[in-house]
Amino acid sequence: MSGVVALRVDDLHVVFKTPAGIVQAVNGVSFTLEAGRTLGIVGESGCGKSVTALSMLRLIEPPGTITRGKVRLNGHNLLDLGNEQLRRVRGAEMAMVFQDPMTSLNPVLTIGKQVSEVISSHLNLSRMETRDKTLALLTKVGLPNPGKIYNRLPFQLSGGQRQRVMIAMALALKPRVLIADEPTTALDVTVQAQILAELNRLKREFNTAIVLITHDLGIVAGMADEVAVMYAGSIVEQASAVDIFENPGHPYTCALLYSIPRLGGADKLKPVPGQPPDPLELPGHCAFAPRCPGAGKQCRQKKPRLEPISTGHMVACHHPVARQAQRAILI
Ligand SMILES: Nc1ncnc2c1ncn2[C@@H]1O[C@H](COP(=O)(O)OP(=O)(O)O)[C@@H](O)[C@H]1O
Ligand SMILES: [Mg+2]
Repeated sequence: MSGVVALRVDDLHVVFKTPAGIVQAVNGVSFTLEAGRTLGIVGESGCGKSVTALSMLRLIEPPGTITRGKVRLNGHNLLDLGNEQLRRVRGAEMAMVFQDPMTSLNPVLTIGKQVSEVISSHLNLSRMETRDKTLALLTKVGLPNPGKIYNRLPFQLSGGQRQRVMIAMALALKPRVLIADEPTTALDVTVQAQILAELNRLKREFNTAIVLITHDLGIVAGMADEVAVMYAGSIVEQASAVDIFENPGHPYTCALLYSIPRLGGADKLKPVPGQPPDPLELPGHCAFAPRCPGAGKQCRQKKPRLEPISTGHMVACHHPVARQAQRAILI
């Protein structure tokens, strides 16, 4: 890594205090992301991807609490900021796109009004300038006939159009960091490809750093420069996308890769066998051990730390998968 650091997350911990007990949703997540790069965060449902994303913008609500960690952006720790400072950071420095834009758009306000509000809450522009900027943004994210879209209500748009509006809002202020949580999961494949191309174009244009959260490894392969694989609230492997796909070191990463249907083959999707641990009762040892074909004694005694196995390639495993063995697991 050599570029400008855009975002640094350090030892993030998030819990939910529920009547059933304490859910340990995120347990010590750390990563660094440079400007103009995309970090893909992958992992099975429930592993803590969304909670990580929401925590970075401090959008976690009770009973959730960030119990430890730092989110460093542009010289400050977001977790230390007061509400007014935080409001300025949101949007201007870090923006977020969610899976379902319907839940984040106001159903009774026109698209034009909502995008304009984002702009005018941060920039001191005249009404005409704000309107022009809004229309320019709607055009930029590939919405046809922006003048018409401007006056529409969210329900009058298709899912893909709504997601483009969300991206327009997120990019209104050219944020340093964009967090996209399953941004295309609700969309059909063609629209999905268009939205992803849009994210890539905007990343190139504004040098925005993107955290792209998805359970879809195909999307990660096409979009990410770096990949973090999460399991039970922790990053278990982190490396360049090339290393993750060609030289995976964690047995869980291998299992995830094995679960992708082979191109052109008759293979069905093979889910990773077994279940992730109950986040109410995370073990003190490796959380993947009960599902791991290679688990030994140490794996059931001690939690492995995320450590380098080669330059820029970190794995949290007592017995990282050797190159020869990957083939045996993957084929
Ligand atoms: N409001 C909540 N109350 C209790 N537990 C929660 C809440 N939100 C998330 N969790 C728990 O936190 C863990 C991580 O969830 P999440 O980050 O949404 O997973 P995903 O990787 O699918 O995005 C899960 O075990 C989930 O059940
Ligand atoms: Mg999620």
